[in-house]
Amino acid sequence: MKRIAILTSGGDAPGMNAAARAVVRKAIYEGLEVYGINYGFLGLVNGDIHKLELGSVGDLVQRGGTFLYSARYPEFATEEGQLKGIEQLKKHQIDGLVVIGGDGSYHGAEALTKRGFPTIGIPGTIDNDISGTDFTIGFDTALNTVLDALDKIRDTATSHERTFIIEVMGRDAGDIALWSGLAGGAEAIIVPELEFSMDDIVGRLNKGRERGKKHSIIVVAEGVMSGNEFAERLAQYGDYHARVTVLGHVQRGGSPTAFDRVLASRLGAHAVDLLLENRGGLAVGIRENKIVENDISEVLKEKHHLNDDMLKLASILSI
Ligand code: F6P
Repeated sequence: MKRIAILTSGGDAPGMNAAARAVVRKAIYEGLEVYGINYGFLGLVNGDIHKLELGSVGDLVQRGGTFLYSARYPEFATEEGQLKGIEQLKKHQIDGLVVIGGDGSYHGAEALTKRGFPTIGIPGTIDNDISGTDFTIGFDTALNTVLDALDKIRDTATSHERTFIIEVMGRDAGDIALWSGLAGGAEAIIVPELEFSMDDIVGRLNKGRERGKKHSIIVVAEGVMSGNEFAERLAQYGDYHARVTVLGHVQRGGSPTAFDRVLASRLGAHAVDLLLENRGGLAVGIRENKIVENDISEVLKEKHHLNDDMLKLASILSI
């Protein structure tokens, strides 16, 4: 292994830059050459590939977004796309690839490895929906962004005795909703992984009102329904002075938290170690504060699980 490349793909996540910096610096420290690929798999197919030096990743550890840009490129699922990608890698004499991204990006990494090109996946997504790791890069930052918004909304909700419905991202996973809802003391947390009963939620809101609660906060994961749809359904039970806030892409930006930067640095360095051992088809992760690697195909097969205990706890603590 003499020359490796790196790309970021799918939805960006705070900490992707810190991970790329770790890959570049660790690789150069180990005597490797590193190339950056712009715009994920799209840039790979188009040959948007350039050499990176130590200085290319300076002043990046604290920046949100991804300096390598990102793209969603479903065409990489085709044989044609993959062969074009490998052709470009060979043309640039690259021996190994690091892909930072979520589920879709892992499929690309898996396909390249199956075609004989060693590729390592680093979990970078705010959704925290990748198996084989306790946390994905960007989740902690997104969570803190949501929490900041939730705390602010609580102030105005109390002043006007309103019910706020906060729609958060997460795609099909409820982690952002669950963790922010627990941390922010939400009255109800609606996640795709578990059925919910509108009667129960309304019962909780009414009970709260009876004992003099001045506000209620309901966090709805986008994978269940939109915040507006939830508000319409709630309105059928009475007037809860509901207001809806859709946090949207604000959750994807911002300077990564210390946790995300440290996680990104550790995972990036480990990805390089694996390539140095000529290993591919692996996804790195963190389990009980230890850096681990798992077969990427297994990670893709395994379903991500939500922590049910936390959901129960959130419900107990917000009575
Ligand atoms: O996967 C990250 C994510 O932000 C999801 O939470 C969300 O559903 C999706 O990406 C939004 O995608 P886009 O930026 O393409 O609208």
